[in-house]
Amino acid sequence: MQVDRILVLDFGSQYTQLIARRVRENNVYSEIFPFNAPLEKIRDFNPKGIILSGSPSSVYDKKAPIPDLKIFELGIPILGLCYGMQLMAHLLGGKVAKAQKREYGRSELFMDDDSDLFEGIPPHPPLTKGGSRGGAIVWMSHGDRIEKSPEGFKSIAHTENSPIAAMSDKGRHFYALQFHPEVVHTEKGKEILRNFIFNICRCGPTWTMESFIETEKERIKELVGNQRVVCGISGGVDSSVTAVLVHEAIGDRLTCIFVDNGVLREGEAKKVESMLRKNFHMKIRCVDASERFLKKLKDVKDPEKKRKIIGNEFIRVFEEEAMKIKNAGFLAQGTLYPDVIESTSFKGPSATIKSHHNVGGLLKKMKLKLIEPLRELFKDEVRVLGHALGMPDEIINRHPFPGPGLAIRCISDVTKERLDILRKADVIVLDEIKKAGLYNQIWQAFAVLLPVKSVGVMGDERTYDNVIAVRAVTSVDGMTADWAQIPYEVLGRISNRIINEVKGVNRVVYDISSKPPSTIEWE
Ligand code: XMP
Repeated sequence: MQVDRILVLDFGSQYTQLIARRVRENNVYSEIFPFNAPLEKIRDFNPKGIILSGSPSSVYDKKAPIPDLKIFELGIPILGLCYGMQLMAHLLGGKVAKAQKREYGRSELFMDDDSDLFEGIPPHPPLTKGGSRGGAIVWMSHGDRIEKSPEGFKSIAHTENSPIAAMSDKGRHFYALQFHPEVVHTEKGKEILRNFIFNICRCGPTWTMESFIETEKERIKELVGNQRVVCGISGGVDSSVTAVLVHEAIGDRLTCIFVDNGVLREGEAKKVESMLRKNFHMKIRCVDASERFLKKLKDVKDPEKKRKIIGNEFIRVFEEEAMKIKNAGFLAQGTLYPDVIESTSFKGPSATIKSHHNVGGLLKKMKLKLIEPLRELFKDEVRVLGHALGMPDEIINRHPFPGPGLAIRCISDVTKERLDILRKADVIVLDEIKKAGLYNQIWQAFAVLLPVKSVGVMGDERTYDNVIAVRAVTSVDGMTADWAQIPYEVLGRISNRIINEVKGVNRVVYDISSKPPSTIEWE
């Protein structure tokens, strides 16, 4: 089925991904291309509309990002946001004034015209004298502003500081907003975007999870032919959803590999394995490599060294296991859209990524090709996909768990004894948080075993034992986080149970640091 598409050209705004997500929330497919994408590529994508993102740049910067000017001749509706608006004014013959002062945050917008972009948005009382539709709070973040709109355009809204806060050229279907309709603080932002997508671009709400599943299954089936696919599963959402989707497409020709690296949570390996086996009848090879990992980690205290050791050893074990699979032609990975954009965006490859760089050696050695069925999806869409595939909530809504696992929560030395203590405490933290109904409001909750001992008294005896720190944070993306304000009673129960039930612990503390300046993990 033909799916209508909106293209977002990225000029470097912090909100670019948000624009694409907002479009997709309306069941219209959207992708992000770098601002300088060649016209051919844009044509091939066949968008029904183009949105120009904001940017930290000014159109007057020497290196201001400029798109191929022919996009204005494609006959496709274009919506410029913020820098995108200034760019349209600058390139199409208007005048952009250099900022004296930047305008950040809330502004009151007055819609002056019955533009089709504002259709169905009821006027707010009180109506202003000039017949404006009254104020709506919008989110601004701009330096320069439009002084004169280009020929063919007319101003359709103003704010106190921007006489032309929105403009349109209805004949050419060009629209521009000085504010950000994609952020939640902008009142009527959703309605404005919907008007652009549905009324102006004439898209249909055709992109649904069901259509995505069907298309992807067909694509994978065709791509794989009669070869085999290998997929590493970690227990996390991305790899599990990848495995289930590929399995739906090619059934038993998928083999999953689960590596127990010895620093997993209690029962993790078993839980994931049994869910995938029981619910989806998948072929899974479980490799217990815990001793290998723990041997390598012996006496290692430095967190970065721990990470390297675990990463390298994982590749080795995975390779050994994958080599045993005959006729394997593909490796399936749970790469998500934000990773894809980061590595292709005009800001250049980011230093923080990519997991498939790690498996590069494996791909070469085994002559495998990559399958990344989630590479067009955002994290929340992966969760919706998981639901649509019939996966249990327990897997889909799982807190993120770091690749180096409990090794970076066992501060300093990682030994089997210390891991056992940490695991038992960790089970209690999660158990109490789930019982209190807080699990889904929290980004991550876990126990950390500290490398200090403290004095306590149990019964008549003096103890000198370990300290457990409890960490629980709320966050949207893990980039920033706040400590979770868990009720005292819940913290009290966690502390009581850990001290009573976990031998070797006589003190529990709660971490009340936010990120930044602290990080979520302790190491
Ligand atoms: P920090 O501690 O940097 O963590 O605030 C942010 C998020 O990233 C996770 N994290 C990792 N994930 N390998 C991973 O796969 C790692 O080495 C790693 N270090 C941190 C952390 O759990 C949190 O969700």
